[in-house]
Amino acid sequence: MGKKRLVLAYSGGLDTSVAVKWLSVELGYEVVAVSVDVGQGGDFDELKERATQAGAIAVEVIDAKDEFADEYVFPAITANALYEGKYPLVSSLSRPIISKHLVDAAKRYSAQAVAHGCTGKGNDQVRFEVSIRALNPNLEIVAPVRTWGFSREDSIDYAAKHDVRVKATKEKLYSIDQNLWGRAIECGEMEDPWVSPPKGVYEMTIASQSEPSEVIIGFERGKPTSINGRTLSLVQLIDQLNLLCGSYGIGRIDMVENRRVGIKSREVYEAPAAIALIAAHADLEDVTLERELAHEKRRIQNEWSRLVYDGMWFSPLKAAYDSFLDYSQEFVTGEVRLVLEPNALHVEGRRSPHSLYDYSLATYDSSDLFRHQDAEGFVRIFGLGVQTWASKQGKLD
Ligand code: ARG
Repeated sequence: MGKKRLVLAYSGGLDTSVAVKWLSVELGYEVVAVSVDVGQGGDFDELKERATQAGAIAVEVIDAKDEFADEYVFPAITANALYEGKYPLVSSLSRPIISKHLVDAAKRYSAQAVAHGCTGKGNDQVRFEVSIRALNPNLEIVAPVRTWGFSREDSIDYAAKHDVRVKATKEKLYSIDQNLWGRAIECGEMEDPWVSPPKGVYEMTIASQSEPSEVIIGFERGKPTSINGRTLSLVQLIDQLNLLCGSYGIGRIDMVENRRVGIKSREVYEAPAAIALIAAHADLEDVTLERELAHEKRRIQNEWSRLVYDGMWFSPLKAAYDSFLDYSQEFVTGEVRLVLEPNALHVEGRRSPHSLYDYSLATYDSSDLFRHQDAEGFVRIFGLGVQTWASKQGKLD
């Protein structure tokens, strides 16, 4: 029997660099470091070097940006997904795709185990572990950061002792997770929910524009496909909107959210494209979805967001909701006109070849075709129950 082998989700940061060494030295694994590029940016050559230097037997960087956009972000757009009405699920969407690539790599490298660098207090450990078990129930899961009990200083000392090259300083101010769909910033001064986030935490949402401008987003079956008439891939479209809306300071979110593990936590996010695309998509649905479908969809999309937040991406209920959402998008094709202003975004126009908006029904001018005479009977019968109650039992003065 050779050595046990493990695939580690590698970010290039202090914790996962120390983890490469720790898993090799303390647990005796051969470590394969895998980084999944979901648009987090950074220098992947440097990252590869660092993992190798820390002792990884192999390092892979997997470009999953298009897959992330098309298979994870797109469904979130169709669901207008905002956890607790506010958070566009930035980190929640990346964990299942990273898990999928870890599980695939484990197969390629004949590894018995998979590891991640999450702490025991967050949602991300839940998302990784539930996803990994859903995709391959036989893999062992190791969570070094949850087990080793190192403080940040301890990790830096361990790195120094074992000659692991890191560029961390003893005080790390914030915990940041970033991808194509946005940026999450935690810790530091923000742990006091009363204190304003320090200006320096923001990177994507710094308002440099002062004049309002207009942008038209085109959708096909719920999928954003163009900006101002130019067809783009979803990755390109999101990148462009992040820059454009970010330059108006649009997309900041400051909230106290309920984590899956029972903790209320103060979270700050930047998600310019997500906020713009969800606003535009939801607005296009207002003209293309029939009323009952629209109302039920709101309920389902809330549940979808909760499930995905909770790490249940690969679950039968989520798959069933996906079928509902997919069906609902058949006629969600058209354009939405957004007006951008410093720190604000408005939908000011929408049109669709499948619009249910009927001018001759809605208008108050002479072209009105609505059958006014039908309203009298409809309203009388609609209110009949309350009328009967009022005459026999009513106690309202
Ligand atoms: N609270 C958010 C979530 O659960 C963001 C987590 C960000 N992760 C991080 N390591 N900073 O989705």
